[in-house]
Amino acid sequence: MKNSHYPATLIPDTDQEGTLQFTLTAQQTLASIAGAEARILSYNGSFPGPLLELKEGDRVQVIFKNSLEEPSNLHLHGLFMSPGEDKPHVVAAPGETLSYQFEAQAGSAGMYWYHPHAHGRVTRQLFKGLAGPIIVRGSQDFSEPLTSATEKILVLHDIQLQHGVVAPHEGMDWGRGKEGNLVLVNGEQQPSFDVPAGLLRLRLLNASTARYYQLQIPGKLLQLIGLDGSYLERPVALDKLLLVPGERADVLIEATGAGVLKLLNLPYSRTPMGPSADTPEEGALLARFDISGEAVTPVALPQKLREIPSIDPGTVTATKTLTFGGSMQPLEFTINGKTFDHHRIDLEATAGSTEVWEIVNPMGMDHPFHLHTFPFQVLSRNGVPEPFRAWRDVVNIKANERVKIAIPFSGYTGSVMYHCHILEHEDKGMMGNLLVQ
Ligand code: C2O
Ligand code: CU
Ligand code: CU
Repeated sequence: MKNSHYPATLIPDTDQEGTLQFTLTAQQTLASIAGAEARILSYNGSFPGPLLELKEGDRVQVIFKNSLEEPSNLHLHGLFMSPGEDKPHVVAAPGETLSYQFEAQAGSAGMYWYHPHAHGRVTRQLFKGLAGPIIVRGSQDFSEPLTSATEKILVLHDIQLQHGVVAPHEGMDWGRGKEGNLVLVNGEQQPSFDVPAGLLRLRLLNASTARYYQLQIPGKLLQLIGLDGSYLERPVALDKLLLVPGERADVLIEATGAGVLKLLNLPYSRTPMGPSADTPEEGALLARFDISGEAVTPVALPQKLREIPSIDPGTVTATKTLTFGGSMQPLEFTINGKTFDHHRIDLEATAGSTEVWEIVNPMGMDHPFHLHTFPFQVLSRNGVPEPFRAWRDVVNIKANERVKIAIPFSGYTGSVMYHCHILEHEDKGMMGNLLVQ
């Protein structure tokens, strides 16, 4: 199977002087998935949803139309936007419309995504197919060597079908986080991509509700150049890369000559129950790349992509501790002992200040932590300094780990959400409100 049709880039309704308007309609769709017909949910009939392609400086309005039979809304994950525009607590009833506006900031070139955020319904709506990618391009994208790279956007999303519909969540799925038996890349099982020899650029999004991906291309280093909504300062060479729910990675591969490269998902234990039952020891094939053409040696990598200032500890005005917890009877997940209540402010921060948060996970399973609006830097994990700087919006907190992050609260005021991005946990209360003022 040759993957050629995805992603469809969404054509704006209007595009005037850097002001773009897009429409995304959530709807039921009959799709063919892994050879079977199934009723899923999609944006504009596309699974995954269409690509929103933007440039730094673009002013954007996204119109969301809810054509589902239940409430929903849209969250533009990772974008630096006003909390009043993000408004994840505002939902559209069936037939209603919502609008979201933002400006793609200078320095925000990276990958983002959109998905529903109607509390209590997020998991099921996303598991059924509601997710799509956003790319913001900056000067790095328009200069060598990235202009000559072959770019592929890979949306990783698992699903499970049953009698022509998406299988329901049952009992323990809400505790463990459901992993669908069909692991899809851009809505297909194990797609193949034809690419020319040279620099291959993979833009990876983990749009699964709970599944972790430990990615490897045997025989190649993954040259990480970006995470979430940010370029790194320079490439970081990795043998494998853990991509947790909500996270994005921008990776270069030196595809020097003709041959086949395989993108594998290696086993990873995120729960005490061990790695996903369907991941063999040698890894599960996610996608393959058929490289053709004249050998290219060496393939040039970018040297310097941007500056990321280190956060001066002297400027930190407050520190906070967030501790994960939960119980099985009743099944609920907590942060600092509380399940989510959208009427309650859990934390407060002063606009313009920088804070250090220590996120403590005393539980036996990993949880990916996500904060809306304000990007952060990871400082250390269990006291070990982070080896490189990045602006990110998701960080995995492993079982029995303490992770320190630094967050400058600049640019906006208002109330923003933070939560576990295993969406079963989010829907079961592992979320809080932060008021910045
Ligand atoms: Cu990707 Cu609050 O979400
Ligand atoms: Cu988000
Ligand atoms: Cu969690």
